[in-house]
Amino acid sequence: MKTFISTPIYYVNDIPHIGHAYTTFIADMLKKYQTLRGNDVFFLTGTDEHGQKIEQSAKSKSKTPQEYADEISAKFRHLWDIFHIDYDYFIRTTDEDHKVAVKKAFEVMYQKGDIYKGEYEGHYCVSCESFFTQMQINNGKCPDCGKDTNILKEESYFFALSKYQDKLLNWYASNPECIKPEHKKNEVIKFVQNGLNDLSITRTSFKWGIGLPESFGDENHVMYVWLDALLNYVSALGYGASEAKMDFWKNATHIVGKDILRFHAIYWPAFLMSLGLELPKHIYVHGWWTREGVKMSKSIGNVIHPKEVTDAYGVDVLRYFLMREVPFGQDGDFSQKALIDRINSDLSNDLGNLLNRLIGMSEKYFEGKISSKTTSKFYQKELDEMEKILEKIPLFMDQIQPSRYLEELWKMFSFANGLITKYEPWNLMKENRIEETQGILGLIGNILAKGSLFLYPVMPDSAKCIGDCLCIGMDSNHFDNLISNKQLLEDFVIKKIEPLFPKIEEFKMPDIVSKPTKKEESLIGIDDFTKLDIRIGTIVEALKIPKSDKLLKLQIDLGEDRPRQIVSGISKYYTPEELIGSQVCVLANLKPAKMMGEVSEGMILASKDENGLSLLRIEKAKKNGSKVS
Ligand code: ME8
Repeated sequence: MKTFISTPIYYVNDIPHIGHAYTTFIADMLKKYQTLRGNDVFFLTGTDEHGQKIEQSAKSKSKTPQEYADEISAKFRHLWDIFHIDYDYFIRTTDEDHKVAVKKAFEVMYQKGDIYKGEYEGHYCVSCESFFTQMQINNGKCPDCGKDTNILKEESYFFALSKYQDKLLNWYASNPECIKPEHKKNEVIKFVQNGLNDLSITRTSFKWGIGLPESFGDENHVMYVWLDALLNYVSALGYGASEAKMDFWKNATHIVGKDILRFHAIYWPAFLMSLGLELPKHIYVHGWWTREGVKMSKSIGNVIHPKEVTDAYGVDVLRYFLMREVPFGQDGDFSQKALIDRINSDLSNDLGNLLNRLIGMSEKYFEGKISSKTTSKFYQKELDEMEKILEKIPLFMDQIQPSRYLEELWKMFSFANGLITKYEPWNLMKENRIEETQGILGLIGNILAKGSLFLYPVMPDSAKCIGDCLCIGMDSNHFDNLISNKQLLEDFVIKKIEPLFPKIEEFKMPDIVSKPTKKEESLIGIDDFTKLDIRIGTIVEALKIPKSDKLLKLQIDLGEDRPRQIVSGISKYYTPEELIGSQVCVLANLKPAKMMGEVSEGMILASKDENGLSLLRIEKAKKNGSKVS
């Protein structure tokens, strides 16, 4: 079957980091898995090079946008090449073919009556390249990334997104597999149910983008970068030109991070409907990686560069860690300690050890030549058990749950280690039970052979090494024979190889303990907040304190057996008379203190600016003693 798999195309405003590597590894894993299963896969990745953000970044480096894009795009491509990412095409949105395809798509949507000219007025986040209404933004900040938004007012062409609201809802409902995990699909459905505004799809206030088709005669407009970018998925297959590879589009899977779900699950299917093209089969949405609990950002200086990790620990190890550590769709935290724990326990103890034991025993007892001809005679029950575990493994890849897939695969390796402990081949040999020893080593060899085929999509180089040791290739023929047709490898020549995963004793990378920013230092957790016991109380008495022009002595009813005495510095702002009977907020668990000889058992809350002081009061009367939370 022809299958299309894509990563997002990454912005060229910055060099690749671990999050980009994560998405790309997932797509590469799927490509390798599908290829093993005999499917014909077109795997697309690339770079997103237009838009205001790139124009600004280039300017800040005193480069032209094209020079800047060339430089950073090459870095992405180089990284994927040294990581042996199996992509079939690396698209750049500055490619001429892509520009032609985008213009063609614009014309088709216009002919369809889905594009009209108007004026956009609203907020724009350059960092997310995203439009927001006044309602959506928080105090002028982007609701997605928290950065400042700009107010835009410019002539624009619009895409009639609102027309597609029901069609989209229908698509989600009738295609249960279209967005995974399920809770992400539900998020999208809610968003669409709340109503869709038409989308501004051209910009006039900067230049770095694809122009409109000449027939529009609107030279000052450039395409909205997300329209340009999303169309990469079909322009790479020849849309608008040869269309030579469009048959891959019938079975398309997008891998995206949760930050760009809305663009892929709402805008993109609507554009495709407008173009009369099929919709993707799957949009798989993964979570966000942090470093030691802190969001990675250039300003904090805690970004993990994937090459640093792979130089220290190897590409396969990083791939394994990222796939195994968090369930797909959930956020994950990267730390060297967690990485080393995985290497030492799963890779070294379980898998590496198993292989070493097989190599060691086959060499010692049989000069490296083992066979499974006698396995079924002595170990039929174990063979059945192996098949039972094997059958479950692929189900998890089909449901895009790589961490569960690896968990199941590791059950195979643990099972094999358990067999060695149980049958003690060294004792079988001592008792001269040669056939039984051959049989058990043949079984273990088969577990490793079958296991390595499943390991290959996640750890291609290590799986190939295991395959070399057992003299099998990581290809669809072996997958067919050993997995689909459940055959056993009969005769093995076990080649000695270097131990695969030596134990790691100490950190191999400098451990940058992420410094929290000033803003983060001042943040408190909910636990801190709940330490404050703030209650509603009524001022039942207020008296001036002699010799003080600031302090009032208040008696406040907090619903306790007697009013509390609180001394407060509000005398300049309120007369005693206007306070009596008024409900205020009181910090009730403040240590008592003495002021001007009077005990104060709490504090009333107020806010002050250049226009004076105002007490914190509540909107509707509450019982005295009610808690503020
Ligand atoms: O959004 N954790 O490009 P981008 C996990 N050009 N994944 C992460 C991550 C993190 N901390 N940081 C980045 C764009 N990613 C657009 C896409 S597609 C038509 C256009 C990954 O360079 C994740 O896949 O900002 C996320 O969706 C993507 O990088 C964003 O890459």
